[in-house]
Amino acid sequence: MTEPDSPDAHAQSVLGPLTRAAVFLVATVDPGGEATVADALSGLAGLVRSVGSRVPTATLNCVAAIGSAAWDRLFDGPRPAELHVLPEFVGAVHRAPSTPGDLLFHIRAERLDVAFEFAKHLTRSLAGAVTVIEEIHGFTLFDERDLIGFVDGTENPVGPDRVAAALVDGADPGFRGGSYVIAQKYQHDLDGWDGLPVGEQERAIGRSKLDNIEMADDVKPSNSHIALNVIEEPDGTQRQILRHNMAFGAVGEKEFGTFFIGYAASPTVTELMLNHMFIGEPVGNYDRLLDFSTAVSGGLFFAPPAAFLAAPPTLDPAPSDAAAADSGESGPGDDGLSAGAASSLGIGSLKQ
Ligand code: HEM
Repeated sequence: MTEPDSPDAHAQSVLGPLTRAAVFLVATVDPGGEATVADALSGLAGLVRSVGSRVPTATLNCVAAIGSAAWDRLFDGPRPAELHVLPEFVGAVHRAPSTPGDLLFHIRAERLDVAFEFAKHLTRSLAGAVTVIEEIHGFTLFDERDLIGFVDGTENPVGPDRVAAALVDGADPGFRGGSYVIAQKYQHDLDGWDGLPVGEQERAIGRSKLDNIEMADDVKPSNSHIALNVIEEPDGTQRQILRHNMAFGAVGEKEFGTFFIGYAASPTVTELMLNHMFIGEPVGNYDRLLDFSTAVSGGLFFAPPAAFLAAPPTLDPAPSDAAAADSGESGPGDDGLSAGAASSLGIGSLKQ
């Protein structure tokens, strides 16, 4: 159970378990679309209730996250301290691109139809204000495996470690319960990967394929995926992230992919992992998995705390909104307050 003073009490549904299905939407905010977007974000929790309560067993939830460039277009007041544009990671052999994206929606449910229904209503509420530039319908393969055939998510932190890994706490008190999200689309050369002897695949990951047992440190190659992704402080403390990778693909086009999504209390942890994977640790000792997995998109977003999203501190209303307010028309909130008005009254504002 969540303690009331835990950052989890303030978070969107970041810490939820891996579901059978997910829809990922990455969108850019069109010029002039800002007010519509802020309004839609404030209605997100209500929309989850509307769609989710039709099929409670599907455990629908949605995390909305905002990119660096869009933040100041959408919101007034302070920014999350570490929000920035994801850098590119350019190694001698492989490269992780940084691609456009103002909004990320991570929609999770036990059933794809429920996630899809939610995505339909969500995009309706954003119509004319955004352009969806990436849409992934992801699934969890049997045995919790990814499309390269390995169990994925084993070493995700649990309990208090999950909260500490994924959610902002005292370092940025105004955004307590928020989370930095890095999302990347990978495409696998599955013919090439499946052509490798299983032992070589296992050395690329650092775990056995069938039983999912981690290799001993003295046999695990230094360029294996998990050797490069275990980040330790000088005192031996491990810095972790929370991953919710999903498989996607289209067999007719030979597209076999993993959508990587990692939540972290600080983006520096995930960025260090990317640095190790692409540039190498030491430099040149890059992740062997990348010889069969190409990153084709990537972005950094911030998932604000739930209360921030419910009543975002929006910028001054556009003239047409102001005229509507003068004429006595009510705004979009359930209580008749526009998000901007709610913010000017200090409702939901996390500025301290
Ligand atoms: C092609 C995309 C990827 C695939 C298929 C993949 C697959 C896997 C698999 C099979 C494991 C071992 C089981 C587990 O603990 O989950 C793993 C572990 C892990 N991966 Fe990935 N991964 C991908 C991308 C990434 C990226 C981009 C990052 C970080 C930026 C990352 C970070 C990690 C971490 C932190 C672990 C756990 C290490 C440990 O504590 O043992 N992965 N991944």
